[in-house]
Amino acid sequence: MGSALVGFGKAVPALVVANETLETLVDTSDEWIVTRTGIQSRHVAIEETNADLAEAAARDALGWTNGGFSERRFDASEIDLVVFATITPDTVCPSMAGLLRRRLGLENAIAFDVNAACTGFVYGTTIAESMMAACAPTSAGATGRNPIRRALVIGAERLTRLTNWADRNTCVLFGDGAGAAVLEWDETRPGIMGSFIVNQDDFANALSSPAAYDAPQPFNADGTLKEVPALLGAAEQGIDDELGVAELVGAGRPRQVLYMDGPKVFKFAAEAMTEAVNQVLSRANISLDDVACIIPHQANERIIKYAAKKLNRPMDFFQLSIAHTGNTSAASVPMALCDAYANGRINRGDKIILVAFGGGFTSGAVLYEA
Ligand code: ACO
Repeated sequence: MGSALVGFGKAVPALVVANETLETLVDTSDEWIVTRTGIQSRHVAIEETNADLAEAAARDALGWTNGGFSERRFDASEIDLVVFATITPDTVCPSMAGLLRRRLGLENAIAFDVNAACTGFVYGTTIAESMMAACAPTSAGATGRNPIRRALVIGAERLTRLTNWADRNTCVLFGDGAGAAVLEWDETRPGIMGSFIVNQDDFANALSSPAAYDAPQPFNADGTLKEVPALLGAAEQGIDDELGVAELVGAGRPRQVLYMDGPKVFKFAAEAMTEAVNQVLSRANISLDDVACIIPHQANERIIKYAAKKLNRPMDFFQLSIAHTGNTSAASVPMALCDAYANGRINRGDKIILVAFGGGFTSGAVLYEA
């Protein structure tokens, strides 16, 4: 018995931006981007909101359209939980999960957001599975809790809103999109067999982005009122210092963008991915030989190549979707998972590993039987 993954969907914005277009924005080349990252193009949301993308992916996963891969059509009233992973919400309140609940009419669902950067979908799936196991109708732990039989887990981003389009180190990497999965508690299937999530402190601020709140406060620290023109907050300055972006902002760089020290993140990512795969295998007590394929976070094809070498597996053991998506953060794993179903590479009974790493630092993996 366990939480089975039974529905999958994805959505991308209409606009496709090829590497050649970025050559006109920054000092880069298609050749550099392809060889250093594996990315050829990405989708950029201009008209679409994060909620629009998430809604389209969720409708596919719920079997309400012909676009996704769903074992059956789920009624809105059957969904008990929505976990929405994102670092680029359209709104802080209501949560993106709350917005989606309303749009889809999920009248029985508990709904909340999760911020674990690119590992968001793995964290979200782990949280949903834990809540389902604790609250399943047959579980001893269910007493006094809402029974959770079905969950919708979303990873959706408009990362290009956080992108500094003048910074060639980052702007070539990111894209927008959404992926969704339906989890169903099933007495007859193992479903999720193991999960592993972990944090490491990002002491060097290798990945950071200040929050976008900008309502000015009228008070000084001693309680006196500020001069009207001097309303801009000292609190933001404190966070900028802590994140290491104060100097960059002082030098005229934009504040609310993603700052990244690529090589430092690369080093963390390469190790974290292998570690997460090995940990989840050991928790589920199975060997990599029993696994059909790995669905990795699509940040850089070279990171996946490094993991393939470490795990002694060929590249075709890994789902590769990065060429036409770029790094879509929390959306990356569920979008790649949807591609794997579309390519017919996942069959009932196959054991699959989802693995990701991201800002925070966060990393983790989920192992499930299809
Ligand atoms: N075009 C041309 N040259 C470039 C570009 C570009 N777009 N970007 C960087 N360069 C240059 C650099 O300036 C540097 O030049 P220099 O040697 O003259 O100083 C040279 O290329 C090499 O730069 P590196 O940063 O060492 O290149 P690297 O091979 O490490 O690739 C990259 C950079 C792609 C960013 C890589 O480090 C990476 O993928 N890191 C991991 C990113 C990641 O996984 N992020 C995930 C988390 S994102 C999230 O959580 C939202």
